[in-house]
Amino acid sequence: MKDKHHHHVDYDAEFINPSKDVVKQALIKDYDKIYKRSVEDREGFWAEEAKKLTWFKKWDKVLDDSKKPFYKWFTGGKFNIIANAIDRHLKNWRRNKLAIIWEGEPGDVKTMSYHALNREVSKFANVLKSMGVHKGEVVTIYMPQIPELPIAMLACAKIGAIHSVIYGGFSAEALAGRIEDAKSRTLITADGGFRRGNITDLKGIANEAMRRSATIEVCIVVKRTAQDVHMQGDRDFWYHDLMALPIANPKCETEVMDAEDPLFILYTSGTTGKPKGLMHSHGGYAVYTSTTHKYVFDIKDEDRWWCAADPGWITGHSYLVYSPLINGATLMMYEGAPNHPYPNRWWSMVEKYGITILYTSPTAIRGLMRFGESWPNRHDLTSLRLLGSVGEPINPEAWKWYHRVIGGGKCPIMDTWWQTETGGFVITPLPITALKPGSATKPFFGHEVAIVDEQGNQVADGEEGKLVLQAPWPGMARSIWGDPDRFKETYWKDYEKQGWYKAGDAARKDKDGYFWIIGRIDDVIKVSGYRLGTAEIESALITHYAVSESAVVGLPHEIKGNAIHCYVILRAGMTGNKALEEELKEHVSRELGPIAKPEHIEFVDSLPKTRSGKIMRRVLKARALGQDVGDISTLEE
Ligand code: WTA
Repeated sequence: MKDKHHHHVDYDAEFINPSKDVVKQALIKDYDKIYKRSVEDREGFWAEEAKKLTWFKKWDKVLDDSKKPFYKWFTGGKFNIIANAIDRHLKNWRRNKLAIIWEGEPGDVKTMSYHALNREVSKFANVLKSMGVHKGEVVTIYMPQIPELPIAMLACAKIGAIHSVIYGGFSAEALAGRIEDAKSRTLITADGGFRRGNITDLKGIANEAMRRSATIEVCIVVKRTAQDVHMQGDRDFWYHDLMALPIANPKCETEVMDAEDPLFILYTSGTTGKPKGLMHSHGGYAVYTSTTHKYVFDIKDEDRWWCAADPGWITGHSYLVYSPLINGATLMMYEGAPNHPYPNRWWSMVEKYGITILYTSPTAIRGLMRFGESWPNRHDLTSLRLLGSVGEPINPEAWKWYHRVIGGGKCPIMDTWWQTETGGFVITPLPITALKPGSATKPFFGHEVAIVDEQGNQVADGEEGKLVLQAPWPGMARSIWGDPDRFKETYWKDYEKQGWYKAGDAARKDKDGYFWIIGRIDDVIKVSGYRLGTAEIESALITHYAVSESAVVGLPHEIKGNAIHCYVILRAGMTGNKALEEELKEHVSRELGPIAKPEHIEFVDSLPKTRSGKIMRRVLKARALGQDVGDISTLEE
């Protein structure tokens, strides 16, 4: 069966079975049996997993669904994710196990045992307290991929502050908006970071953001590049100065939290220009991320786990920072670009550190595939046992290359489908699963997933429909920061009667019960796996003096998955030309961030709108792709 949008996808592909060796080691040997149990007794299944963690006080109730869709998990339980990610490992041999191996882009290396990590986190937790940070307050973190980033996150969690990490590739406007929404008074940042041989100007951008939103009173700055930066005397402090004070005591009690207390908010793009701060809890999130990580990636004590995502996104939160530490693993973290200085950078690190599991995005794979096989082939990659993929559908060509060239044909690929909102994996294989390249395969334990039409009727096998999650899970986002109505409206309104969660993705299920994700059905675009809202890009464009109106769509791109295509109506008297095109691209990059830099700007005289004035992006996209524009009866002209 061929499909016009995904012409490479082969739904009838032959299964790729795991090797005997992988099966022999697998923690889960019988998916069907455990899956059946997990959905028949969902609460029992999750309680059993939760028992494996450390609680200050056990929960009274596993699931409280009295205020749907605001589900609560492990209510009455006293908990802190740090008691699990750090404290419990200090009481056994893992104290001296490596927690973090970090390599900077210039080649500098830092390693930290659980013991050392605890000292850094405790010291910084005491620093934060001394700066007046208290339980329940939102601390904004805007940093490059350096060890101080997870240290800052963990220190916040330890004292019960709520972290809000803003990806370092975002610029002033995005940072300012997120600081303002959270009314954050503390910002942790760095002078800059190394990226593709260049130095990023994080502090300059942070200064601009603090000028635009005035809530920040304290700004702590890690010295990474030692470039000259402007420090404001009464507001800005160097991290290393504070860490050298007696107040930075390496002993700090972990705060006793309610299981449902917020751990972090993470902003993500939605349909409107205003990004939403998804809120995750200490208890349920810890149980969910550690369970999914352990079973899907078969985590063993001798593993060296590398999640090549940035901690600024949910993948980094859940699978670079929290779940590996809860599972007592050794994690790898790398600061810079995959192809710096040469396209073998990643492969040389896999070899050098003996990485056993690599988890990355299809965009990264496609980007490295472009350089050819000789780069990975000159390295010994035989330490690898499992591979992972996340963020966007992986096309079978990239899947097969990853499998054959990187995995030597013996490492199964865990294609994990999930979202910022889900906290962790939802549709994913296990190491024992028979795989089909391009399919995320089947639901994780406890999940019931369906493909439905507008009314909620299940569509036939092989038909496209909307992906819904039919039952709650412990890692689900609890709400949108400061806007519970939007939480209800966005995810739960369309299938309110059934009580289902709408994921916002289109997908199919084949005759074998395997799920195939097609992509977003809302105004969200995945560019290189990064999640961006068309409305955010439009808002950035409109702040340019030449722009009167704009519409943004995502169009297929060979490496990035999607690329940003902008239609712009200029103000009267302005003429569109090559120079203005470049200027507008730069403008968006400066305002919102380099990741949001448009691929194309097209000047137009009008935009297709509904009679109520809403831009029909669907029509623009169909036209650009030379497809049938579909039903345009609501079109104004
Ligand atoms: C997409 C990232 C296909 C999907 C963890 C989802 C995927 C959005 C996959 C969430 C996958 C994520 N296959 N598509 N394995 N994983 N997506 O919030 O469209 O940044 O809705 O979370 O990424 O993006 P987010």
